[in-house]
Amino acid sequence: MPDLSIPRHVAIIMDGNGRWAKKRLLPRTAGHKAGVDSFVNTVDTCSDMGLEVLTVYAFSAENWNRPKDEVGALIELMVNGINKYEPEMMRKNIKLRLMGDLSLFGEKCRGSLAAVQQRLSNNTGMVLCICLSYGGRQEIVNAVNELIKEGKTSVTADDIAGRLYSSGLPDPDLIIRTGGECRTSNFLLWQSAYAEYYFTDVFWPDFDKKELMRALESYSKRQRRFGR
Ligand code: IPE
Ligand code: IPE
Ligand code: MG
Repeated sequence: MPDLSIPRHVAIIMDGNGRWAKKRLLPRTAGHKAGVDSFVNTVDTCSDMGLEVLTVYAFSAENWNRPKDEVGALIELMVNGINKYEPEMMRKNIKLRLMGDLSLFGEKCRGSLAAVQQRLSNNTGMVLCICLSYGGRQEIVNAVNELIKEGKTSVTADDIAGRLYSSGLPDPDLIIRTGGECRTSNFLLWQSAYAEYYFTDVFWPDFDKKELMRALESYSKRQRRFGR
């Protein structure tokens, strides 16, 4: 029996950057900047711990509806952050998987993200999934459309799971949401069927190793029954 008290896959809704900044009378982008630092630290910790998969929600399909300036700043921060962090991901043997509708990003952006993903593709350590322009409903709709294109007239759950961005990965065991909201905001709708949720009021830029350990400790005390 695998030890279910240690998650294989942790997923995080990194929320609360704007309110973190507001509390400090700083612009929202300062919160997003601090959020990138928090992201890098969390990836480091999870990889050092030997976690199999870490998925982070960095930019939702709905986040395109934010003011243009904020969207631009967010994308720039994310793309630069991923590029800057690439050598460290290589050293840590991290494999990168980008999940979302990347066709909505500019060509230069898309090219540079795909190139980083490609260069890290032979790594065998932790899989880091970054959800960018990601929506859970859109992901399922895309999977179904793909199956229709393949000529299928009836489908199984495995057919759908196999066409999601997360194909081949275990489902998340633990989903953490920072920032105080208790909702999924269209994150991993299919994959979260039996995930344990952990909500904390801590804003994402303040989420550190101590807070992560708190979440893992809470998870370790849960009794998962899977309907049995
Ligand atoms: C999370 O922080 C980052 C993204 C959604 C991209 P927010 O920007 O949502 O911060 P709050 O929730 O307004 O505090
Ligand atoms: C969810 O946060 C998306 C990310 C963290 C990337 P939002 O701030 O966009 O979610 P809502 O609007 O509070 O539901
Ligand atoms: Mg938010």
